[in-house]
Amino acid sequence: MPGFSTRAIRAASRIPEVPQPPLNVPIYASSTFEVADANELAELLEFARPGHSYSRYSNPTLEILGTALAELEDGEAGIVTASGMAAVHAAVLSVLRSGHELLIPRAVYGGMVGLASAVLDRVGIAVRAVDTTDRDAVAEAIGPHTRMLWLETISNPTTALADIADLAELAHARELVVAVDNTFASPALATPLAHGADLVVHSTTKYIGGHSDLVGGALVGKGQLVRAARAIMLNVGGNGSPWDAFLTLRGLKTLDLRMERHSSNALRVARALEVAPGVAAVHYPGLASHPQHELATRVLRNGRAGGMLALEVEGGRKHGERFLERVRLAVHATSLGGVETLVSHPASSSHRQLADDELASAGLSPGMLRVSIGLEDPEDLVEDLVAAARPEA
Ligand SMILES: Cc1ncc(COP(=O)(O)O)c(C=O)c1O
Repeated sequence: MPGFSTRAIRAASRIPEVPQPPLNVPIYASSTFEVADANELAELLEFARPGHSYSRYSNPTLEILGTALAELEDGEAGIVTASGMAAVHAAVLSVLRSGHELLIPRAVYGGMVGLASAVLDRVGIAVRAVDTTDRDAVAEAIGPHTRMLWLETISNPTTALADIADLAELAHARELVVAVDNTFASPALATPLAHGADLVVHSTTKYIGGHSDLVGGALVGKGQLVRAARAIMLNVGGNGSPWDAFLTLRGLKTLDLRMERHSSNALRVARALEVAPGVAAVHYPGLASHPQHELATRVLRNGRAGGMLALEVEGGRKHGERFLERVRLAVHATSLGGVETLVSHPASSSHRQLADDELASAGLSPGMLRVSIGLEDPEDLVEDLVAAARPEA
């Protein structure tokens, strides 16, 4: 009879046949999968047959999540990555090579700027920033080496919107690939592929996960482009984890409900802040005063404008920082999209490297705060945020 360890390993690895399907997708916590022969493994490693060989390449839990997101985003295929930035990296590197240029919005998530300086610069990919709310500026910025246009459905942190359909038409006429970061909107509010985008990326860390308890990313889109991105992802080890994918699947089930409440809470808070003492401006696509409010009603579904707003307090940088110290309910922390309201001050955090004039050209001001409105009771949020903005008596 085999020894205890041998028997224990065998006994603890028996995979059950489950006649009654569970309601939730199991966490396939296995780095590797048993194959019948060398040919099967070779074919799996080439994705030439369905199945899984090694979890850096694919894994059932990750596959279910990738397929679910592709379905909800109107995409042909989807992959799950270790973080939003791993998805951004795979999208960019699978389309661009040395000598190419990437066009990004002037008001863009700071991680994109970090990727440009820490990675793309080293591999000879140029990055040019343009005001993507200005069609003519985008048309003019496309040069002979530009191969990709990067957009954010709702920009981080200024809440400027991209007219995806219009810009995709322009970019496709010049043979560019159009990639959209849909993190702020989530597929419950917007589906950029339906507006003509080729690739969509998400930080699932944010709304899709929804509970500030995981870091993950995803990329969906046209099959061929997703397969090319997968080759980059698996060769640099940017794959997601089945544990985080489980939490993300759980979050996905309530995404629509949460986005409804994030949006109604944010609109209520934005309206209150707009007339509150000490507030210079509120940027929220759901407000009639937002310069792209009409576009928001076309790009974002069901009259919802999401949970992100930018707030400018009077008194510049000093009062921006003071606001963070004054909030009692909202939490001063980076990230967004969770059930709790988070506030951050881009001029002293994500955009701290920028001088005031550089902030202005990215559409930011020194007194701007980014607020990720959570799912708390709206009257409590209004009270907290209005009090934090109030000038000293
Ligand atoms: C719009 C946007 N895209 C991408 C990312 C990167 O996501 P992650 O932190 O999951 O890599 C973030 C993170 O804040 C984000 O806000």
